[in-house]
Amino acid sequence: MEKNNLILDIRNLSISFRVYGKITKVIDQISFSVAKGQRVGLVGESGCGKTTTLRAILNVLPSNAIVASGEVFFNGRDVFKMPAAELEQFRRKGAGMIFQDPSSALNPVFTIGDQLKTALKYAGQGKMDKGALYQQVKQALGDVYLADPERIMDSYPFQLSGGMKQRVCIAVTLAAGRELLLADEPGTSLDVTIQDQILRLINQLVLDRHLSVIMVSHSLGVIREVTSFVNIMYAGTIVESGDTGMVFRQPKHPYTVALMNCVPKLTGEGIAEGVPGRIPDYAHPPLGCRFSPRCPYAQEICHQERPPRSEVGPNHWVSCYFANEVM
Ligand SMILES: Nc1ncnc2c1ncn2[C@@H]1O[C@H](COP(=O)(O)OP(=O)(O)OP(=O)(O)O)[C@@H](O)[C@H]1O
Ligand SMILES: [Mg+2]
Repeated sequence: MEKNNLILDIRNLSISFRVYGKITKVIDQISFSVAKGQRVGLVGESGCGKTTTLRAILNVLPSNAIVASGEVFFNGRDVFKMPAAELEQFRRKGAGMIFQDPSSALNPVFTIGDQLKTALKYAGQGKMDKGALYQQVKQALGDVYLADPERIMDSYPFQLSGGMKQRVCIAVTLAAGRELLLADEPGTSLDVTIQDQILRLINQLVLDRHLSVIMVSHSLGVIREVTSFVNIMYAGTIVESGDTGMVFRQPKHPYTVALMNCVPKLTGEGIAEGVPGRIPDYAHPPLGCRFSPRCPYAQEICHQERPPRSEVGPNHWVSCYFANEVM
């Protein structure tokens, strides 16, 4: 992939947290990139560091976080080194995040119309007259298929359903004309049918506008439908990455294989068991491969040394010493 085609390039990123005098090493040397217009997935079980990764991209990490190593380049500029004014512009226009819980992303004391106007005003170049701004807000709500945009503009967040709020959040994020969308399990706080609609909507908007997107999800079905490239995360590391179809057809890392087996089977075999064991204590992570304590294939070397990333096929990489023995 050509370097200048990249909108986002994460290199060797490690993030720790200070917790009660201890240091937890959560994100451990992750690298991945997103090309312009590419749809990239980030998958892994709860607590593996997906949200932390997205927050690092926007440089909105919690105050107890430490960037222990690495860079995050957005259009060639390191977000950790951007001057304040540039960083503000980047967050207003460059990249935007859609959160899991729409309620927490909207301000309860302002109407939807006012919140959208503010977002548009700050994102726009120069001044806009009132009438033009009103039309833009209406358009933004229409774009996310909200019927009756005028009524919605006058509503407060508590007057809308969860699905409507999530659509408003998407409208706010997209209205600013951002290039990169960070979608953190959008709609998982909503019921399944609404979640499905929201995902379809995001997918369609991303395609229509040629946006780049990082889609975080527990759901392998969603990832398969929405992304063309996927990173599988385990305990703060990327264990496997590649062309989505390829990773789903021929998973090579024991964790990816186990994750695939977790998907409820629709063939009458019932719900498969989860991946046995649990994520390691980040204050004392395993020395070698972080999956080694749970891995049925692990040998001595896996406990001692971190496996390097190796190419196992076209556009397909795995960090595992025994990737070729995994079935
Ligand atoms: N501010 C913080 N202080 C200390 N630890 C944190 C902080 N934020 C996150 N962590 C820890 O970092 C790890 C990764 O958290 P993160 O929220 O990134 O996971 P996730 O993959 O998004 O999980 P989920 O799927 O449940 O949303 C967890 O162990 C979490 O406890
Ligand atoms: Mg999360």
